[in-house]
Amino acid sequence: MTDVGTEQRAARALIAAASRVVGFTGAGISTESGVPDFRSPDGVWARNRTVYFEEFLSSEAGRVEYWRQKVEGWPAMRDARPNAGHYAFVGLHEQGKLTAMITQNIERLHQRSGLPAELVLELHGTTTEAICLTCGDRIPSDEACRRVAGGELAPRCKPCGGLLKPATVSFGQAMPHDVMVRACAAAESCDLLLAVGSSLVVEPAASLPRIARRAGARLIIVNREPTPLDVIADVVLHGEIGEILPALV
Ligand code: APR
Repeated sequence: MTDVGTEQRAARALIAAASRVVGFTGAGISTESGVPDFRSPDGVWARNRTVYFEEFLSSEAGRVEYWRQKVEGWPAMRDARPNAGHYAFVGLHEQGKLTAMITQNIERLHQRSGLPAELVLELHGTTTEAICLTCGDRIPSDEACRRVAGGELAPRCKPCGGLLKPATVSFGQAMPHDVMVRACAAAESCDLLLAVGSSLVVEPAASLPRIARRAGARLIIVNREPTPLDVIADVVLHGEIGEILPALV
């Protein structure tokens, strides 16, 4: 067991020596911005049942429940501002070290912190827009949530009548293939992967730190709770991201 100071010094040294850093984040980096995560005691899954993609497609009641959850969580996402954790990754970008910002998060706080959009790989899509599952038309989430609040409990696409859904990836829904290909390529070619604020239990996202490790990269995990990948990490720092991450960059 080493003390946090030793671990922090080790992490700082690895980051200083790295030239091709891939960031990998989960919902834990956004809780300090007021956005709940999923698996903490006060997280989304402690208060809501999961509506799987199959149910969304096949059941009006499932779509109504899915949109109810979306409307409930939207104000915190919409009003959130990036925090010190997000800005630490901006610092890495400004040092010319950040080759990709892989995120499972859907609220676009990495883009709002100033990272170029092309650097951010959104594995699970975005909740800032709703998309028609038939024609692909997109509308802003503010408009979609207003329509739900106005009585369209499971809104449909105005141009084609198809099902409107937040542009996120639900359990059972295909991941964006091109994003996964880019994320795998980034993980395979980095010299350090910095995994922050994820329980690292959801696949295939959680395979990316493993892919980086197998390709010879160093792995640093920063998270409040232990994760299944702690055993393969070079450095593990348990604690609050807003305190830990800025001190490493
Ligand atoms: N500082 C450090 N760690 C934190 C903080 C914080 N301020 N806040 C939360 N955490 C940690 C929690 O302890 C938890 O281990 O962040 C982790 C968040 O884990 P999850 O809630 O499981 O979120 P995530 O890993 O992003 O989930 C992956 O699951 O439900 C799906 O699609 C959803 O993208 C999500 C995916």
